[in-house]
Amino acid sequence: MKLFLDTANLDEIRRGAAWGIVDGVTTNPSLIAREGVPIEERIAAICDLVDGDVSAEVVATSADEMVREGRGLARIHRNVVVKLPLIPDGIRACSLLSKDGIRTNVTLCFSAAQALLAAKAGAYIVSPFVGRLDDIGSSGIGLIRDIAGLYSSAGFPTRILAASLRSPMHVVESAKAGAHIATMPFKVLEALFEHPLTQKGLDQFLRDHASALAAAAR
Ligand code: G3P
Repeated sequence: MKLFLDTANLDEIRRGAAWGIVDGVTTNPSLIAREGVPIEERIAAICDLVDGDVSAEVVATSADEMVREGRGLARIHRNVVVKLPLIPDGIRACSLLSKDGIRTNVTLCFSAAQALLAAKAGAYIVSPFVGRLDDIGSSGIGLIRDIAGLYSSAGFPTRILAASLRSPMHVVESAKAGAHIATMPFKVLEALFEHPLTQKGLDQFLRDHASALAAAAR
């Protein structure tokens, strides 16, 4: 399973990449807007930091415009994956870009039926939003499991990227449910490390080591 950071913040990406566990990055218009820089400039900078898939989302809403914008984004770097919304025009743009060999990530997926459309259109990645489904009392992890079953039965090669992950358990459960990729905010990646017994155990080891050294020096 691959771990991606869901951010357009370069400091966060640098810190995550330094651990050697970040396989790629996803961005969206909200994350780019938070940084206050043009998308092309920021996507190029992210591609310099991480050698893996970097999703960059179109903001056009008609298929022709999405294809034009998507081609421009794909030209920024060979690792760019063009992110398209799961609306009829987005699916048409996905079909057209996929036929041209441009890799796509169909986003804002909230049902197995929508995921079927993305796969039929040749999407390289589909992005079901786990947390936002949980927010409305539905099961985000259940959707990951449904899509994984559907793609496996139908033989679709589209990769499942679990998005809108808000906690370490979302990441773990997505992996168990069959997601190929989990994308998460930096704070969730950091939270994956956390367990009180790890720090407590390390403190004890270091205390014992220091006592042994002191005893040897006496
Ligand atoms: O990848 C999509 C993600 O950015 C959405 O997360 O927490 O706003 O639902 P959230």
